[in-house]
Amino acid sequence: MYKIAIAGLGEAAKKIHIPAYSKLPNVEIVGGYDPYATKSEFSFPVYDSLEELLNETRPDILTVATPTDFHFEQTKLGLESGCHVFCEKPFTVRIDEAEEIIALAKSVDRQVVINQEFRFMNIHKAAKEKINTADFGELLFLTAHQTFYVSDETEAGWRGDDVQRTCKEFGIHVLDLCRYFFDEEPTSIYARFPKGNNPNGPDHLNLIQLEFSGDRVAHIILDRYSKGRHRYLDMRLDGSEGTVETSLGGNIELKGGIKGGTRKPYINLDVSLGGNAFLHKGEKATKIASDPLDLFPNATSHLLKLFLDALEQGATPPCSAEDNLKTLALMHAAYQSNERKGPIKLV
Ligand SMILES: NC(=O)c1ccc[n+]([C@@H]2O[C@H](COP(=O)([O-])OP(=O)(O)OC[C@H]3O[C@@H](n4cnc5c(N)ncnc54)[C@H](O)[C@@H]3O)[C@@H](O)[C@H]2O)c1
Repeated sequence: MYKIAIAGLGEAAKKIHIPAYSKLPNVEIVGGYDPYATKSEFSFPVYDSLEELLNETRPDILTVATPTDFHFEQTKLGLESGCHVFCEKPFTVRIDEAEEIIALAKSVDRQVVINQEFRFMNIHKAAKEKINTADFGELLFLTAHQTFYVSDETEAGWRGDDVQRTCKEFGIHVLDLCRYFFDEEPTSIYARFPKGNNPNGPDHLNLIQLEFSGDRVAHIILDRYSKGRHRYLDMRLDGSEGTVETSLGGNIELKGGIKGGTRKPYINLDVSLGGNAFLHKGEKATKIASDPLDLFPNATSHLLKLFLDALEQGATPPCSAEDNLKTLALMHAAYQSNERKGPIKLV
């Protein structure tokens, strides 16, 4: 049985980590720490300091699910207390902090994993598995698109105050997915975060282009100006033989109409509560995956399971700190590119 303690008992802990851990039989939450939490809300003891939590419960893993500014110090404390760490994204604020954590983890022989759980959603796993198959061929072009309806509720708390609101908090998932799908590091990045008439406000519009080897490109639009439909993340991966479209955010959808090419009528019922992925070849669409309604905890539990398997095998887990440093650096490069108003060569 692995003992896990959680620092930060807000939305990510309540809606992602606690339900994720309940899916794994060999995991027990031994305690938590959050100076602002209502202790009676939780089924485990909540301590008055992180030091007390670590001393009293002696966990195998410390989960760090606090606002990003606290990730560095709390991950350090966890490692110094002998824990492995499961840290929320973004890993740290600064790159030198991430590098310090990596060196410390090595010196105390512990692992740090960052919760980039989007890789472990069924729809993204299925898309990845199609790449380089006869059905899909080589990945040539990727587009990622978000339309997000900003409201007082979505901007409440520390997030809404951050001028790097979108790319640092959400874009980092998409940048990580691009690295995952192309299976290599991009050679350059060009990012524009136009702010219109609110130059000191948050980066509500992200336009990012990543170049990969062989003249292959990823194009990302994260649009929080939109007053239209909320679409959390739609991706299209164009391969040399087929196209995969993924859509995160559930639907029960009855569609009918006339097909564009063949002019044949069609009717289709799709039930995908958390999201779906389709392989397209012209007019023919085949569903290759869907996600359950609780796709965030579901994906996080997949990643945690692989983390625990790696600990047992003495192997490096996926989404390791070393790997995630590259995603963090990419996010920082996006902001640099925006400031310079030009592309940045990465290799
Ligand atoms: N992987 C994902 O899909 C995902 C989704 C949401 C949030 N996150 C990440 O999770 C982290 C937390 O986000 P959230 O949405 O839960 O925010 P939140 O504001 O809902 O929760 C943060 C909690 O941390 C507590 N806290 C503040 N300072 C603390 C401290 N020094 N020590 C302990 N607790 C402290 C707050 O009281 C609050 O309860 C962020 O890094 C965010 O980017 C990841």
